[in-house]
Amino acid sequence: MKNLTLLGGISPATFLRDYWHKKPLLIRQAIPGFKPLLERTALFELAAREDVESRLITQNQQDWQMEHGPQTSLPPLTQKQWTLLVQGVNLHDDAVDALLRQFRFIPDSRLDDLMISYATDGGGVGPHFDSYDVFLLQAHGQRRWRIGAQKDLTLVEGKPLKILKNFKHEEEFVLEPGDMLYLPPHYAHDGIAIGECMTYSIGFRAPAFQELGEAFLQFMADSIDLPGRYADPDLTPAKNPAELQTPMVERIAEELNKMQFTADDITIFLGQYLSEPKASVFFDPVDKPLTPARFVQAAKKRGVKLARKTQMLYRQKNVFINGESFAVGREDKILLAALANDRALSGDAVAKASVDVLEAFQVWYEDGWLSLDA
Ligand code: SIN
Ligand code: CO
Repeated sequence: MKNLTLLGGISPATFLRDYWHKKPLLIRQAIPGFKPLLERTALFELAAREDVESRLITQNQQDWQMEHGPQTSLPPLTQKQWTLLVQGVNLHDDAVDALLRQFRFIPDSRLDDLMISYATDGGGVGPHFDSYDVFLLQAHGQRRWRIGAQKDLTLVEGKPLKILKNFKHEEEFVLEPGDMLYLPPHYAHDGIAIGECMTYSIGFRAPAFQELGEAFLQFMADSIDLPGRYADPDLTPAKNPAELQTPMVERIAEELNKMQFTADDITIFLGQYLSEPKASVFFDPVDKPLTPARFVQAAKKRGVKLARKTQMLYRQKNVFINGESFAVGREDKILLAALANDRALSGDAVAKASVDVLEAFQVWYEDGWLSLDA
């Protein structure tokens, strides 16, 4: 892969080798001349919506308050030291979605969302660390970041936010619009607005193994098949009626040990799990849909594209979309893999699709998972 201005003139391979999960990287003018993609008022409107996750953080000296959205009344712009965090803005705006997708040198399975923070002078969320990698792109105004590699990650107790008890910074930078700071997980940081500012956080996802394990067992519960029922034709009279007898425990163990997890089980589970939209995501079904015949005709002419909110992944013969999975043949697989990677297919490509794929497209179109291209 070629060198990217976004990464300060190094290639994604070099970035991943030298910085990713390892050390911070400050990139001056990662996006030269960057202008905010959303006006302040548009951001506030998003924060007032039911289907958008947001938090309002107000601060009085070292005392922090947090309120979850929808935000119906924000503090006045003249009030200092407040921050509005709006999660998943990429789900609601094409330009923000396109910005997030500039980071696709990291696979979709690891990409989470783009959060926008708005702060008045002196605003910030306090010294803290995150469990995930993050790129902090300055979008408007200036923010002073103080960062440090401290091992002591003790938090102040009884606060609504994670605040580091003993924050000591080693470096300090003032970011201007277009500048970007990459931080690996667990790197201590504190960003304070210098005047009004907006910062875009490109965040990643790294599921906890416990969370994956619980979800996997639930998934397996729906697919296990253990025919038969316990029987004991050799039962002998009970001396201690309350005691669980060895033959029963051994016999049940023998049956339960027949449950095996195959690589396919894990692939299908993971594809469904990672492509599942967050609980707050709602798709907008198309308004007056075309008839199936008309849709296919139009799709073959104009092509199709995935909705911003659609998450599509694949592996080998398995294709996953918004938490659903299906196995496909070779030809369909090539076409669907192209759709997942490019998030769009030309009319010519759609014209080569099988009847099954066209039927799936038509259902996805009605559900708002995919639309006709412009
Ligand atoms: C912010 O943008 O205000 C906070 C982002 C962060 O520190 O993770
Ligand atoms: Co942070």
